[in-house]
Amino acid sequence: MIRDLGARALRGGFLWAAERGSLRKAVTTVPATHALVSRFVAGETLDEAVAGLRALHDRRFRTTVDVLGESVSDGHAAEEAAGQYVAALDALARGALDTNVSVKLTQMGLDLDPAFCLATTRRIAATAATVGGFVRIDMEDHTRTDPTLAIARQLHAETGNVGAVVQAYLRRSASDIERLITEGIRVRLCKGAYSEPADVAFQDRAEVDASYIALMERLLIDGTYPALATHDPAIIDRARSFVRAHGIDASRFEFQMLYGVRRDLQERLVRDGFTVRVYVPFGRDWYPYFMRRLAERPANVLFVVRSLLGERGSRD
Ligand code: FDA
Repeated sequence: MIRDLGARALRGGFLWAAERGSLRKAVTTVPATHALVSRFVAGETLDEAVAGLRALHDRRFRTTVDVLGESVSDGHAAEEAAGQYVAALDALARGALDTNVSVKLTQMGLDLDPAFCLATTRRIAATAATVGGFVRIDMEDHTRTDPTLAIARQLHAETGNVGAVVQAYLRRSASDIERLITEGIRVRLCKGAYSEPADVAFQDRAEVDASYIALMERLLIDGTYPALATHDPAIIDRARSFVRAHGIDASRFEFQMLYGVRRDLQERLVRDGFTVRVYVPFGRDWYPYFMRRLAERPANVLFVVRSLLGERGSRD
């Protein structure tokens, strides 16, 4: 109980810092954290990412690429980020790699102007369409859920190659799932990575897990090629027995996991004949992404805290 409260407090602290950039300087300048960053991020440049993607493809993984960045403060930065996605899609197509990308709408200017964001993201969806690719619109905190789903819907209607993300911790998600199933929009189901208030999101792990399982089973029965994004072995086992019991073929859904997380589980699922898509982030703006990964696992946090204290100690 006390351990659980401690872990929750640490998680909250790191998510808080992720949004405000308050630990950015400490984390980005401590050499000891670099090894941990490179476990979760496939490099700072497109070339480095392509090398990482090729290694994954050689080991029979599918991939989706995230050009790191979020919450841009001007239109120029959003257009530049869209340009990086277009360049990435071209490079993936040339390299015969998966032309599948994951995009955060605050990076495309959602907070500046939703109409501008739609136009910027449309450029990415149009490029993906020309190379037979796919664009997954990542989901951010609950204040962005409605505008994010609206843009995903609009681009899905225009190109048919755009999918959405639903977070199991949100209380609204069962109704979002029903609507997305009716619309035939591909859904990635995840637990949710942001710090959310109790009136909009379940706070207990058990409640989030129960919500995940219920939504997962709905998607497996009626969804369009759902993506089960989790590293939770209990939920993965549950998915495996559910599809076995309902005669759902492995070609009708996929598992998704983050680059560097539970690589053992990723390998095992591929060996057992399942499709596993690895979410591969790259770019210089890795701080908020990295902080959310730390928040998900107390052991990661302790590693960084220890290195920060160690560095400080050695400087004093
Ligand atoms: P849980 O947190 O219960 O972890 C289960 C086990 O996985 C842990 O016990 C540990 O072994 C391992 N693990 C999990 N996270 C780890 C980490 N960071 N480091 C080391 N081990 C770790 N969220 C969101 O809000 N919007 C989005 O668009 C996405 N997109 C997305 C795509 C993909 C492909 C994945 C896999 C996840 C996301 N997420 C996301 C993140 C998601 O919401 C969630 O925060 C993480 O996946 C962690 O939750 P798990 O389901 O893995 O379970």
